[in-house]
Amino acid sequence: MVDLVTLTRWSGDNRIALVGIENPPVNAMSIGVPGGILSALTQVNEADDAIATLIVPGGSGILGGADIKTQGKPWPEEEPNLWELIRDLDTFTKPVGILLRRNALGGGLEISMGCHYRIATEGTKLGQPEVKLGIPPGGGGTQRLPRLVGADRALDMILGGDPIDAAAGLEAGLVDLVVGADGAVDAAAAFMVERAAAGGKPPRARDQAVAVSDPGIFAAAREKAAKRMKGLTAPLVCIDCVEAAANTPFDEGLAFERKLFLECVASDEAAALRHVFFAERQAKKVPGIDKSVEARPLATAAVLGAGTMGGGIALCFANAGIPVTVIERDEAALERGMKRIADTIDGQATKGRITAVEAEHRKSLLSSGIGLEAAAAADIVVEAVFEDMDVKKSIFADLAKITKPGSVLATNTSYLDVNEIAAAAEGRESDVLGMHFFSPANIMRLLEVVRAEKTADDVLTTGLALGARLGKTAVVAGVGHGFIGNRMFQQYNREAEFLLQEGASCAQVDGALTGFGMAMGSFAVRDLAGLDIGWANRKATAHLRPEGARYSTVGDVICEKGWFGQKTGKGFYVYEGRKPSPNPDLEAIIAETAREAGIIPGSVTDKMIAQRCFYALVNEGAKILEEGIALRAGDIDLTFINGYGFPRWRGGPMHWADRIGLPQVLAAIRWFDTKHDFWTPAPLLEKLARANKTFADWDRENA
Ligand code: NAI
Repeated sequence: MVDLVTLTRWSGDNRIALVGIENPPVNAMSIGVPGGILSALTQVNEADDAIATLIVPGGSGILGGADIKTQGKPWPEEEPNLWELIRDLDTFTKPVGILLRRNALGGGLEISMGCHYRIATEGTKLGQPEVKLGIPPGGGGTQRLPRLVGADRALDMILGGDPIDAAAGLEAGLVDLVVGADGAVDAAAAFMVERAAAGGKPPRARDQAVAVSDPGIFAAAREKAAKRMKGLTAPLVCIDCVEAAANTPFDEGLAFERKLFLECVASDEAAALRHVFFAERQAKKVPGIDKSVEARPLATAAVLGAGTMGGGIALCFANAGIPVTVIERDEAALERGMKRIADTIDGQATKGRITAVEAEHRKSLLSSGIGLEAAAAADIVVEAVFEDMDVKKSIFADLAKITKPGSVLATNTSYLDVNEIAAAAEGRESDVLGMHFFSPANIMRLLEVVRAEKTADDVLTTGLALGARLGKTAVVAGVGHGFIGNRMFQQYNREAEFLLQEGASCAQVDGALTGFGMAMGSFAVRDLAGLDIGWANRKATAHLRPEGARYSTVGDVICEKGWFGQKTGKGFYVYEGRKPSPNPDLEAIIAETAREAGIIPGSVTDKMIAQRCFYALVNEGAKILEEGIALRAGDIDLTFINGYGFPRWRGGPMHWADRIGLPQVLAAIRWFDTKHDFWTPAPLLEKLARANKTFADWDRENA
């Protein structure tokens, strides 16, 4: 077996011991690594001729933390673990330095803070991202970081979870020296010679006082977290720990952190965030398509339609540095669209989100044209014209002839059959796929990559790779009305509207949903998106509605009055600017439609609202999974988190249902089924509940 930890002497001065960590790819603290480091340090401490140690993570140079592969598995009792390594690092009397390269995040940074000296190469990222996984740093990070950089900076780093670079680390006091990547080991070892020669007790983070700019920073941080990270526990725990660092002796603070860390690790919040973390990794993989299938190179793009979506999609390309041609039918529409795109970029610069130079660069990537010929040379064409099958078919028939061979032809359709659209692209069917962006396309993270019957494997791979390049969370969806997200969202909105007729107000329904953690309520979202879109879809699909099944006409009546939501100032709410207040005319409409449907309103509880709306998502999600429209329950969760504002810390609807227990969810659905239409339990849900299994089990066994 190759040694995980090596002990050598520095060629520049053999009094310096080099402790190498050789555990690719990220030098994680697998079984044997912490123990290896500690025994190497003990040897150095006892060796008469050694004056200091430099720990050098090998290979990539990255210093990992806990090894995820060992999580949940028993750790041999006699083997020191990560926590014990960090606890003991600063007990050595000879100075211990560590070289940080590329990144030291989480446990990696905590190890380094246990050392006496940190030397980082330029650009190395240093951070405590644990909060993103629903936990505080658990290896002394909340105690040592404030001692090194002050409580203010530590709160920023621990609550934001985003790393700082080596230069900022030097300025903040987190690192002692920044060196170039070339010759980094020599420079760091020479620094250790200097420090050892200076003599004195090597500095320990634990001995420093915590600088606090103002005692009010903790209360202010709690207030900010309550607003920006509503519903989350981990940020509050992090604040408590940093406050403890400021107010209690080091060892007490460390014990406090340990206790809260262990509680958080076992929490629903951490389980949900871990689930999302792994779901994001999984979503990039498509069963049956391996790494040998390469994405097609995309150097240029064209977008058809400069409307709401086309404009947003063009922005996505420009923001990612990809030259894009925006194409419209006539000059007037093109001019309007291009102006909106340029205004958005300028707005970003005005708000200071990008520099003026970057804004100019992005605008320079935009070009425009009239007619499909302008798309002839593009590597990918994204169609975002009206939602009309005939229009789309005629466009794809032309694109098949006009565009260069091998270019990818994508449609942004929300509901239409991508197989039918692809069939129109004669001879090019395998180059066609759906790329379903969400509005506003330049902001929303979700991208449904729709795999049609004949979509080539490398075209699908290209869609996923493009998603990543555009900074999206891309999820593979099969062809079916509304794909994954919109199909489920319809069920959720349907229940929300039924609840109005049963006695709830818009504000109560939306309040219950946002209280659960949704970014916005059902009615507020629909008013924002524009009620006319859903109305057109309902009219187009009216023939598909099961005869005699319950149907709420509230949304239709609203649209008949010309109230399309925010854009007309009135919808489920009335608007003054963007501020909603109750629509005074709505109650009468709801009462009238309920009377017509023979529904007698009663009282509706918030719990009932949450169950009806979210169980509707779960039941439809199970059907989607079984039909193969989604590859995994985890993909469905990502869809709802990134496209519909479902709280990430609840892990998505399917994970949330798993935590409740599928038998319990099924029992409620069965009960609803005796009272309302549309509640036939999904066969997959029944099957899993019977076997006392979860959607996560299904993912493990099937995807
Ligand atoms: P829109 O009406 O704002 O824009 C459509 C644009 O396409 C118009 O500017 C129109 O002039 C242009 N156009 C029509 N035929 C054309 C042609 N032959 N060549 C070039 N340009 C042409 O519509 P919107 O909302 O942008 O929707 C576009 C597509 O995106 C639809 O398929 C829609 O279902 C889908 N979508 C819409 C979402 C939304 O929230 N609005 C969300 C996701 C997808």
